[in-house]
Amino acid sequence: MIVPMHERGIFAIECPLQSISMSQFDIFSEDSTQLSPKEKRAAELRMLINSADHAYYVCAHPIMSDREYDTLFKELESLEHEHPELLMPDSPTQRVGGMALKEFKQVTHKKPMLSLSNTYGEQEVLEFDQRVTEGLDNNIHPYVCELKVDGVAISLIYRNGILEQAITRGDGEIGDEITANIKTIKELPLKIHHNPFGSPIEEMEIRGEVYMEDAAFLALNKQREEAGEKTFANPRNLTAGTLKQLHSKEVAKRPLKIVCYYLDANREETMMSHADNLALLQEMGFPTSANSKKVNDVQDVLYFIKDWEDKRETLPFGIDGIVVKVDSIPQQRILGNIARAPKWAIAFKYEAQKAETLLRDITYQVGRTGIVTPVAELEPVSLAGSIISRATLHNEDFIKNLDLRIGDTVLVEKGGDVIPKVTGFNPSKRREDAALFHFAMICPCPLQTTLHHIEGEVQYVCMHPECPWQIRRRLEHFASRDAMNIDGLGEKVIDQFVEIGILHSISDIYSLHEQRDRILALDRWGVKSIDNLLASIEKSKQQPFRKVLFGLGIRHVGEGIAKTLANHFGSLQALQKATLENLVSIKEIGSSIAQSIIEFLNDEHENAMLDSLSTSGLCFEQSVLEQEQKTDEFTGITFVLTGELSLLTRKEATEEIEKRGGKVTGSVSKKTMYLIAGEHAGSKLSSAQELSIPILREEDFAQVLQGKKKLTSFTGIS
Ligand code: IVH
Repeated sequence: MIVPMHERGIFAIECPLQSISMSQFDIFSEDSTQLSPKEKRAAELRMLINSADHAYYVCAHPIMSDREYDTLFKELESLEHEHPELLMPDSPTQRVGGMALKEFKQVTHKKPMLSLSNTYGEQEVLEFDQRVTEGLDNNIHPYVCELKVDGVAISLIYRNGILEQAITRGDGEIGDEITANIKTIKELPLKIHHNPFGSPIEEMEIRGEVYMEDAAFLALNKQREEAGEKTFANPRNLTAGTLKQLHSKEVAKRPLKIVCYYLDANREETMMSHADNLALLQEMGFPTSANSKKVNDVQDVLYFIKDWEDKRETLPFGIDGIVVKVDSIPQQRILGNIARAPKWAIAFKYEAQKAETLLRDITYQVGRTGIVTPVAELEPVSLAGSIISRATLHNEDFIKNLDLRIGDTVLVEKGGDVIPKVTGFNPSKRREDAALFHFAMICPCPLQTTLHHIEGEVQYVCMHPECPWQIRRRLEHFASRDAMNIDGLGEKVIDQFVEIGILHSISDIYSLHEQRDRILALDRWGVKSIDNLLASIEKSKQQPFRKVLFGLGIRHVGEGIAKTLANHFGSLQALQKATLENLVSIKEIGSSIAQSIIEFLNDEHENAMLDSLSTSGLCFEQSVLEQEQKTDEFTGITFVLTGELSLLTRKEATEEIEKRGGKVTGSVSKKTMYLIAGEHAGSKLSSAQELSIPILREEDFAQVLQGKKKLTSFTGIS
């Protein structure tokens, strides 16, 4: 067991950015003398892990090693598993996500979540100040300027210091309760670190913006693109899409962040000044923006806006403007709201950054699945802090709609979308010799195959199984970290090997050892580098079936679907026998995914490749260890399900019971051992009550499945 930090004398570690010391984390706010040793240890572990999360995610100042963290985490997990009664809502184990929901609950906001009126340009800010001045009878009115982070607004309800509900803005009146998803955000305290008020805060509401940093967005989009999945247009869409996931385990995989900008603790101290509230939020351990600033007058507001116009490019996340708020809350009240927006605040919107540059040429890019995309080759130009020399033109229609010609001076913009876009051309600079672009219906690779048009889509595809450009992308994907993880087989090496003709397909990777001498004779290759590469190729044969499936690059089969297929079928052989109907009957698989799997498996070239990979010794079967573990937890136990279930479907509940060795029957009898009752349960519920059969609400059952409660703790005696 790890020695608690305070016993090692390193308890009060200063948090450098937020000046929160670990001594402020209220471990034993409950009377610790009343706690059993196990309760005490669980509370201590929660505190240690939560404070380590805060130090790492909010203060960027780790206070323990990853190993130490993992050990504490595992200790807490097993303690909670053995003693489900120790599991508290503020436990960091709640952050990794739990069971999937069927739908989100709709919740009415206590106070509507307003939006902000937009202003563009200095004049409109001055007019806003004029209205505020008049509304406040010329009294002085300091403002707070904040960055308008481009994400998704959220309302958080804390009861007795513990996060209880997280609700999306929705239509401003009613939103979705997405608490499990929000709990995955490591920088958000599940329990406040410190209560600055001296008496318990029964209920408080905090509002903020959930967002994703640009780098995380780009990395995730790249992964999705490689997997042939739909990409997101910008970090905001990705954040919104992530928060809509019904399965919080999926959310936990995405690095969401949050910044808090509103506090109402329903007491006098939080009804005075917005700037003071921001300081209180920080004191309580919430992530707030280090860039918010209280200023005296509108001139300072304009200065703040100007200052951030260029500086915003240095931020790791996108902002779409500045929010200007009257600082005094009593003054905010005097000013009031119009329609859905306050009169005391505005959003100042920056114009999208634009640049003009020469469209030198339009080339083509071939993706892993053969889709050919036109690409703008630009005279390099500096835009919003980076040099832009290429930009996608998506498809032929996009170019036609913008009427772009090679030789035009085009407009490149970077709005909230991170990725620069060509948005038009400058007509006054159009040269007479500017050339119209005709989409060549042939693949740009040396094989020059005629392209096919995908029905119902704007894209053209190269269907040649040996298209070297497509193969390069496929090889890159196959060797990538999340697939076969072959170190040393990156883009450059692949290009080199394809060029000299020693790599024509994925299966050639496993005969590269026969080319050792030839590779050694190439530029930049030595004994050590080739042997490392060959060792890494050899090692990749141990990658599990799901990784191999993902690496094959079947259109629409990303990591998640590959895992589902591996779990469901267990082997390639079984998957090869699957029909379209078999595939679509799997929950996660829709008809277009099923179609592309069938096409892949029926393709003779792909089949030849699969044979060759299998001969090379790749893993085409799920190992026993990886198969979803069946347990005997419910062996001999008969359940009846009744009423409307909302957390699980009936089918899922039955599957979960059967996986654990239990049985589900249709009617209540003396043999029924437990009744699981959803909403509006009818006669089965009354029969069970008459027979004193233990009744579990759906939430209880979910907790039993998660190991948080024991089935035996339910008795039929009320
Ligand atoms: S204050 C009445 N502050 O902007 C005040 N909003 O257009 C309403 N946002 O829904 C919100 N950063 O999603 C506020 N520092 C900030 C903000 C911010 C981003 C978003 C938020 C809101 C939208 C309003």
